[in-house]
Amino acid sequence: MSTGNNGYNGYLSCDANGAKEKGAYYTPDPVVRSLLCWAVRNSDDRLLDPSCGDGRFIAGHPNSVGIELDPFATPAAIHRAPKAMVHEGDFFEWAKNTEERFECAAGNPPFIRYQRFKGVQRQRAIALCAELGATFSRLTSSWPLFLVVTAHLLHRGGRMAFVVPAEIGHAPYSAPLIEYLAEHFDHLQIVAVRKKLFPELSEDCWLLYADGKGGSTSHIKLSAQEQFVFHEMPPTGTTSVNVETWRNSWNKRLRPFLLPVAARNLYERLASDENSLRFREFAQVNIGYVSGANDFFHLRPSEVEKLRIPNSCLQTTVRNARSLPPVQVNTSAVSRWLREDRKTLLLRLRKEEKLPESVLAYLRTSQAMQAAEAYKCRTRNPWYVVPDVKIPDFFLSYMSGRRVSFVQNAARCTCTNSLHAVLLKDKAMLPRIQAALRSGVFQFSCEIEGHPLGGGMLKLEPREAGNILIPPETALSEGVKKVAQDGIAALQAWRHYEAA
Ligand SMILES: C[S@@+](CC[C@H](N)C(=O)[O-])C[C@H]1O[C@@H](n2cnc3c(N)ncnc32)[C@H](O)[C@@H]1O
Repeated sequence: MSTGNNGYNGYLSCDANGAKEKGAYYTPDPVVRSLLCWAVRNSDDRLLDPSCGDGRFIAGHPNSVGIELDPFATPAAIHRAPKAMVHEGDFFEWAKNTEERFECAAGNPPFIRYQRFKGVQRQRAIALCAELGATFSRLTSSWPLFLVVTAHLLHRGGRMAFVVPAEIGHAPYSAPLIEYLAEHFDHLQIVAVRKKLFPELSEDCWLLYADGKGGSTSHIKLSAQEQFVFHEMPPTGTTSVNVETWRNSWNKRLRPFLLPVAARNLYERLASDENSLRFREFAQVNIGYVSGANDFFHLRPSEVEKLRIPNSCLQTTVRNARSLPPVQVNTSAVSRWLREDRKTLLLRLRKEEKLPESVLAYLRTSQAMQAAEAYKCRTRNPWYVVPDVKIPDFFLSYMSGRRVSFVQNAARCTCTNSLHAVLLKDKAMLPRIQAALRSGVFQFSCEIEGHPLGGGMLKLEPREAGNILIPPETALSEGVKKVAQDGIAALQAWRHYEAA
């Protein structure tokens, strides 16, 4: 039940009530006060919180309107902010019909990922943003839509201050929001906060300030803070990010502007070198196969022997990045896995192949019956043929800790979808890739092109892996290594590693 302060870390969350589905993590009081201090400038300013939760923003200013979908939270908001107007319902439905306009807005929109943010609510929100000129794909999270529509409801000269997820620094769906705000406000400032605002969430949160509705700006101010401290004004130490440069040179990402200037300049220079290539230009990067039932399809040598499965039905596989040796998967690494009796043999059956009796017997076991019912298996025909089994030239880690693995496949193994399977279309690129690995530029590029996840992990989606930069060897002078390492350290400092 999300009413009243539960005393946990000084702010309220409502986990027991499905906080994740609703994106309902309420904002710590010093953050609320900081955002309000800046946003509300006159006692008769009208304030909007588009997703007011238990009313902690609207309680800070009597002339307020709050919208809240959760019927369990609205009574708390009404109780906490008796002078405010609280509407229960979907913000987008309300926004579509309201004539009200506001001098200021503040709050913390729900961060609901596209998998959960669906149905008529998402359609309505995306359609409303499209009418306003901000085009979002259906893969968008909910929060940028809240901010676009809120911005629209401000009077000329109005302003807004919000908690936003740190993915504003890299997620593709942050870009239409940033474009919209730069087109509709005189000033746009984003404050990156390294220490978590919400210690119990995996999501890092930053702050966003937009001022001067009705104007436009060609620059975004980006400030970096070690930790949040109460402030009446956003921090003054900023990097000025040219919107044109953000758009054209940095793939619409703000995160690279947290780099030391030398590291950012290095990457910009290497990326603009006419002889540099991106991975997608000379390699195919695909994720490995999805078996659908790992325990059934991955066998140990001892199991193979017992089941008498012939070698022709098996394929040695790399199951995850942890199993990868540092440089090369070769026959001695594979021999070791086999000696250690690891589950490293994939049952690889082909369509329309005549199956040996021993395999047919395995397909009749109760374990097989169970595997056949798994979602990925029951949606393919025949269920026991694992598709997309590729033999790549290299394995690239999909999720990495401190170091991204890029390992040559000298033993003709395949890999699961925990890894990228990289196939070189142009083998002559190999020495250049090795030079990029030696210089640290390969890892630096992964840090820039990938994105952070909870627990200190760096994730490289296939699209991001395709962007990895391989400069010509001549561009990789001695000094490059140190600058690249500084860049890697700077970006890793924004991830949260578990204490060793
Ligand atoms: C992150 S909480 C923030 C609440 C409050 N503004 C605060 O900062 O403490 C987001 C709130 O959005 C509400 N919400 C989710 N979808 C909504 C929608 N479509 N319309 C209005 N509120 C919504 C959730 O119920 C939740 O209370």
